[in-house]
Amino acid sequence: MQIKVLGSAAGGGFPQWNCNCKNCQGVRNGTMKTSRRTQSSIAISDNGKDWVLCNVSPDICHQLLASPELNNPDVLRGTGIGAIILTDSQIDHSAGLLNLREGCPHHVWCTHEVHQDLTTGFPVFTMLSHWNGGLIHHKIVPEESFSVSVCQSLRFTAIPLLSNAPPYSQYRNRPLPGHNVALFVEDGNSGKSLLYAPGLGEPDSALMPWLQKADCLLIDGTLWRDNELAATGVGQNTGKDMGHLALAEEQGLAALLAGLPAERKILIHINNTNPILDEESAERQSLTREGIEVSWDGMLIEV
Ligand code: MLT
Ligand code: MN
Ligand code: ZN
Repeated sequence: MQIKVLGSAAGGGFPQWNCNCKNCQGVRNGTMKTSRRTQSSIAISDNGKDWVLCNVSPDICHQLLASPELNNPDVLRGTGIGAIILTDSQIDHSAGLLNLREGCPHHVWCTHEVHQDLTTGFPVFTMLSHWNGGLIHHKIVPEESFSVSVCQSLRFTAIPLLSNAPPYSQYRNRPLPGHNVALFVEDGNSGKSLLYAPGLGEPDSALMPWLQKADCLLIDGTLWRDNELAATGVGQNTGKDMGHLALAEEQGLAALLAGLPAERKILIHINNTNPILDEESAERQSLTREGIEVSWDGMLIEV
């Protein structure tokens, strides 16, 4: 399968429009060895022609302009995106659905809990019902594998993650298992697999076998330190508050990744405060020594 990273940053992107932290200034002024990043989204294909979009960031239209392989040149109006899967109902993963309204109807796979958030607190399903058939919901039941109408050789399984519901959700700070899932994607042709988890708060025993099994991990690289937002002076939330396990803590994600057998270990959903965005930083170099990669917009991964 091919995986195209459309957006590798967390909410806000990099640089964030209103931020003058060291990283955002560095990328804006060109004084830091790094690259601009849009908000979190990937696309997956088993044939290079039909694509499954996983999460839809507010930057989706720019991302599609930068990804001509997702275009469908054979029709007057249309797209190579045949299905959409959401791992949660966060704004950076779902607001872009509004930008895709000209292409409705879209087939959208998500859990009951995500669908509930997206019909109440952020009612994008309800709103788009007024645009040519809107969003057609296909319910994901965690741990029951499913396939979508395109890319028939791919099997998807959603694994519940311990994380948090979005700030706007009535379930903030009391999430149910369906509010955040990882996607395990198995390619029946190659036998290879991907685990995609852009919002991982705490690995538990239910997730471990999937982390062990996947050939490629595309995983939550939001923060280096749990208190990074306060330490850089841009906010108060900790990683724990937001449902993101920081990389560098003693029981952090980098240590966990180091012990896993996957061929590729790649970070995604990287917050603009994270020092790993600076390619010359000590933090970035320590990841490189551990064989952990940092994704970038436009990165193509063959699994
Ligand atoms: C997150 O990943 O925690 C959210 O995208 C944060 C936000 O919505 O600002
Ligand atoms: Mn996010
Ligand atoms: Zn910043």
